[in-house]
Amino acid sequence: MAASADTTTTTPSYTLTGKIALVTGGGSGIGRACCQVLAREGARLVVADINLQAAKHTLTLLPGGQQHVAVAMDVRDRRSVEDAMKAAQDQCGTPPSLLVNSAGVFTMVPFSETDDDTWQKIIDVNLTGIFLVTQAFATSLLDNGKDPKGAIVNIASIAGKTGYPHLCAYSASKGGVITLTKTCAAELASKAIRVNCVLPGVIDTPMGAMVPDELQELFKRLTPLGRLGRPEEVAEVVAFLLGERSSYMVGACVEVTGGYGM
Ligand SMILES: NC(=O)c1ccc[n+]([C@@H]2O[C@H](COP(=O)([O-])OP(=O)(O)OC[C@H]3O[C@@H](n4cnc5c(N)ncnc54)[C@H](O)[C@@H]3O)[C@@H](O)[C@H]2O)c1
Repeated sequence: MAASADTTTTTPSYTLTGKIALVTGGGSGIGRACCQVLAREGARLVVADINLQAAKHTLTLLPGGQQHVAVAMDVRDRRSVEDAMKAAQDQCGTPPSLLVNSAGVFTMVPFSETDDDTWQKIIDVNLTGIFLVTQAFATSLLDNGKDPKGAIVNIASIAGKTGYPHLCAYSASKGGVITLTKTCAAELASKAIRVNCVLPGVIDTPMGAMVPDELQELFKRLTPLGRLGRPEEVAEVVAFLLGERSSYMVGACVEVTGGYGM
């Protein structure tokens, strides 16, 4: 029997060609890596971040000739989110049909010393932010999209499944992201919008660097792969969850942890 060509390595697979993808937190870390991988897969990117300069810098790193755009967005603020969504639609001519909710903040502080402001800021960005952005995204896609078929990936955390000492607000926010993902997934599936989330372990980004060195070493020892993750290793899973190759995945929580917390 003649050997067939290996299409997995010889045929480029631009899985997201023609799609417009909005990535919050696209100015750094996992969000930036998502922008790079999604652009490689053919998507046109709307890089959204509270730090517009960082979002603009991401634009300079993107492959492909698609006309990517950067927008300022504070995910905590409904007005800012809706304005940015409208700017994305105006600049691209149609609303985004793919969304990555990656904007996030992180603070390590003992439970008994967590003050109201710290608790509220983390919940506002990590959880309320996803609520606001997802609502604005779904509304604009369903009201104005030419092809209202969409996909959303939320960046939760393995801490949202396991909890972790000194991460009460962060873990609670990420646990909320997991159940928000499942609820939105159940409601939006009938409208042809799939929603899933990923649960990264400790990833080598500016946020990951906020984990003290001795704790990073402990995580490495507790991780079967014995190392921290790279942002692009999360982004590849995100690209898969946004594309048609995951067409039967809805409400899934995919752990990208090197085995930590399984
Ligand atoms: N790095 C890790 O170890 C790790 C592990 C698990 C989950 N995560 C999650 O992954 C996501 C990305 O984390 P990262 O490591 O890339 O962090 P990062 O600090 O490198 O990037 C976060 C980005 O979010 C933006 N941002 C912060 N507040 C915002 C707001 N109010 N509105 C809009 N943008 C805002 C920042 O400007 C920044 O560009 C976060 O949700 C984080 O909780 C990270």
